[in-house]
Amino acid sequence: MVLIEQLLTKDEVVQFRHKLYQAPWIDGKGTAMGMAADVKQNAQADANHSDIQTLSNLLLSKLGNSPQVVSAALPNRIFPPCFNRYSQGETYGYHVDAAIMRMPNSHEVLRSDISMTTFLSEPDEYQGGELIISTEFGEQKVKLAAGDAVLYPSSSLHRVTPVTEGERLAAITWIQSLVSDSAMRDTLYQLDQSIQTLVNNPAIRREELDRLHHVYHNLIRQHSQV
Ligand code: NI
Repeated sequence: MVLIEQLLTKDEVVQFRHKLYQAPWIDGKGTAMGMAADVKQNAQADANHSDIQTLSNLLLSKLGNSPQVVSAALPNRIFPPCFNRYSQGETYGYHVDAAIMRMPNSHEVLRSDISMTTFLSEPDEYQGGELIISTEFGEQKVKLAAGDAVLYPSSSLHRVTPVTEGERLAAITWIQSLVSDSAMRDTLYQLDQSIQTLVNNPAIRREELDRLHHVYHNLIRQHSQV
């Protein structure tokens, strides 16, 4: 699980929310597959609306420009982000995200390796509405500041607890990674984060950094599927 702070600035969050309030919303069940639809109660911004497509593309470019997202996810394909809203009493019970998704208006498919939620409401604007991710170390509860995002393996069971007061706005998307194995992806992420720290350390000799870069890129070469 990786947390990304301020993927969107507070100003960008205001712009997103402004557009989202004006957009048409539809029942979120329509985009859930199979058993997930039974436990899904929320609304989704109409993905066919031009303003929503603009927001989706804007968020997509923020993802591509975030060194931390690129390092953690090693994206190959990204599903156009969708926007959802949980009003009072709404919830999404335990489910796993579909493994294979058809890209909108395309014959291409995407294998969901990583699920991503970007929070668009501040935590004090609603009660409940925590994203609960079931991991091998137990349940992880995630409720982040507006503009912050979380990446987690799509293979994990997860749910959104009922919103008991207020409204929870978020963007969600799925990423097919160049490296499908989540343990390998995590190792590469740790290595890259270390390299980025060392790059800023004047005491580290250039040749040592080159050697680490070499190792990193050779590991990517060995483990990526393109
Ligand atoms: Ni989900």
